[in-house]
Amino acid sequence: MKVIAFNGSSRKDGNTAILIKRVLQVLEAEGIQTELVQLAGEQIRGCNACRTCYTTKNKRCVIEDDNVNAYVQKMIEADGIILGSPVYFSMMTPELMALIDRTGYVARANKHLFKRKVGAAVVAVRRAGGIPTFDAINHFFLISQMIVPGSSYWNVGFGLKKGDVESDEEGMKTMDDLGKNMAWLIKKLKTKKRKT
Ligand SMILES: Cc1cc2nc3c(=O)[nH]c(=O)nc-3n(C[C@H](O)[C@H](O)[C@H](O)COP(=O)(O)O)c2cc1C
Repeated sequence: MKVIAFNGSSRKDGNTAILIKRVLQVLEAEGIQTELVQLAGEQIRGCNACRTCYTTKNKRCVIEDDNVNAYVQKMIEADGIILGSPVYFSMMTPELMALIDRTGYVARANKHLFKRKVGAAVVAVRRAGGIPTFDAINHFFLISQMIVPGSSYWNVGFGLKKGDVESDEEGMKTMDDLGKNMAWLIKKLKTKKRKT
């Protein structure tokens, strides 16, 4: 069992990373292997709408000069996918959006590669825009036929400067509960053979 997490922040090891790591810590304690990819510093282009993925159907994006195809592969191999982002102008970062657009289109072109995997959004915000960002990430999971577990609150942590979210006690607890629910769900799904 494995969960792959992506941090869409431009700031490595910032608040989004802290929140994601809290979820991963719980998953690890539950015996689930985890990996965190931080997109900070990477150039990830958006989808160019060529639809080549629909003709080749080779589980790859035609753009080969960044890491997106490696990330598609990591998502295919995982049982669960966490997508985390800070809020930038009331939305996710352009890097995470580009990752969603390209991996999502490749997945749809290849009979829904992420179908029935478990998906969770994690958001860091200073004040406002947490819920639109949370919702937008969940739209990706839901159109990908993925299963989305809940937590004791929506998966949003509050903070501005690096490390501020650690003082958001309820936000951190929400990440703990998310980790527990995600682990529970992945184990349940794993006991049944996935029919596609
Ligand atoms: C370009 C930019 C835009 C931002 N827009 C918002 C915003 O719309 N609402 C908000 O509450 N915080 C906003 N913030 C603050 C971040 O969401 C906040 O600092 C967050 O904790 C950063 O997470 P990180 O450390 O993972 O990068 C913005 C920050 C940046 C750099």
